[in-house]
Amino acid sequence: MDRIRIVGGNPLNGVIPISGAKNAALPLMIASLLTDDTLTLENLPHLADVEQLQRILGNHGVDIAVVGRRERQDGAYARTVHFTARTIVDTTAPYELVSKMRASFWVIGPLLARMGEARVSLPGGCAIGTRPVDLFIDGLRHLGAEIDIDNGYVDARAPKGLIGGRYVFPKVSVGATHVMLMAATLARGQTVIENAAREPEVVDLANCLIAMGAKISGAGTSIITIDGVAALSGARHRVLPDRIETGTYAMAVAMTGGDVLLQNTSEKLLENALLALRRSGTEITAEAGGIRVRRNGGDILPVDVTTDPFPGFPTDLQAQFMALMSRANGISHITETIFENRFMHVQELARLGAQVSLSGQTATVTGVPVLRGAPVMATDLRASVSLVIAGLAAEGETVVNRVYHLDRGFERLEEKLTNCGAVVERISG
Ligand code: UD1
Repeated sequence: MDRIRIVGGNPLNGVIPISGAKNAALPLMIASLLTDDTLTLENLPHLADVEQLQRILGNHGVDIAVVGRRERQDGAYARTVHFTARTIVDTTAPYELVSKMRASFWVIGPLLARMGEARVSLPGGCAIGTRPVDLFIDGLRHLGAEIDIDNGYVDARAPKGLIGGRYVFPKVSVGATHVMLMAATLARGQTVIENAAREPEVVDLANCLIAMGAKISGAGTSIITIDGVAALSGARHRVLPDRIETGTYAMAVAMTGGDVLLQNTSEKLLENALLALRRSGTEITAEAGGIRVRRNGGDILPVDVTTDPFPGFPTDLQAQFMALMSRANGISHITETIFENRFMHVQELARLGAQVSLSGQTATVTGVPVLRGAPVMATDLRASVSLVIAGLAAEGETVVNRVYHLDRGFERLEEKLTNCGAVVERISG
C-alpha cells in the first residue's frame, strides 16, 4: 500500500491549480443515467472515486469516453468525458460496487425515475458515523415510490412513474437533496423540496439538469421547485471548482507560511471557511481567476468554529482546520454538528504533538509552538489530508499511511505541493 513521506518545515510558495469538485462530479456523472443522450462533463477531476463511479455506471450500461489527451487538458489537470446511457442494461447496483463509495447509492434516484425500478445495495464509504439512508427512502416515497429493504438492498419501484409531491427534509442532507432533485425532474407534475441542502454542488447539479431540459427553480435556497418533464436531453457542463480542495490548500499555506495563488477557484464558494482563516491571521485576497493566500511570520491566532450545512463552516474542512489550530497561539474550540464520529484524526494529530481533548461533539485544541513528524494513519479522506498539512508544518519526517484515502479526493496532491516547495514524495508498495 502506498505511503506519503513528508519532510516538514518549508513554506509554500507558488501556484496551485484547483481541480473540479469531487462532490459535484459524482452527482453530475450520475445524472447521465437520466437521459439516452450524451452528457459531456468538462473539468472532471481524475480521482479514485470518479473511476469507481465510472465502473458503477458502466455496470448500468453507460458508455464512457474520455476526450482527447487524458491529462493536462486546458493546460491544467481537467479532463472532458462523455457519458452516454443509451440503454440501461441493469437497474441493480450491487454490494461489491456500492460498498466502496457511499455516493454510488445516489443512482437510485435516476434509475427509479427513468426505469421505474432500482435495486441498490445499502452504501459504504468513509467511516465517519452511521450515515443512514432514511431520508432518501422517505423522500422517494413522497414521490410515489414503493420501497422495501431486503438482504442489504433497497428495492424501489414506481411502475407507473414517479409523481411530483412535497417533501420537507427533517434534516439537511446533501446526498438526499441530489437524489430528490434528479428523481423529480422526470416525475409527473410539480415537486417542492423544503429544507433542501444549499451547497454549491447542489446548484451545480441543478444547472446541469436545467441545461438537460429540466425545469428547476430555487437551487441554492432551502426551497427547490421542480416541474417534471417527459424526457431530458444531453448537455455539456463544466464541473465547478473544488471548494474543499481550495480550503485545504489555503489552510496548508496558513500553517506553513508562504504565498500561494490558488487558481481556477472562487472566494464565493467558501466564504465562511475563509473568514475563519482570516481571523487566524492569514491574508486572503481575491485575484483574477483565483484566490491568493499569504502568511508571512506572525502567530496563528486561535479561532473557534462550528461545522454546519452550507453556508456554514464545512465539515469537510474540520480536520484540516484542527491541524492549523494545533499550532495556534492559544486555545480554540471546534464543534462538529454534521457527523457524530468525525474526530478520528485527533489521535493521529496527537502523534505529531497536537494537544486536543474531546468532550462530546467539541474538541478543545491547545496550540503548541512545534509539531514533530511521526508515522500516522487515517481512516477517512479529509482526516488524511489534515495529517499531510500538519506534516508540512512539523519538524522532521512524517509518513502518512493508507494513501488510498487521499487518492479518492485529492488530484495529484504530491505534485501540487512539491511545485510550491514542499518536500513530499509517494513511496509505492
Ligand atoms: C456529502 C459529501 C460529504 C460531506 C457531507 C456533508 C459528497 C459525495 N459527500 O455527503 O463530503 O461531508 O455531504 O456536507 O458530496 N443523514 C441521515 N439520513 C440520510 C442521509 C443523511 O441521517 O438518509 C445524515 C448523515 O448521517 C449526516 C447528515 O445527515 O449526519 C448529513 O449527511 P449528508 O449531507 O447526507 O452527507 P452526504 O451527502 O453523504
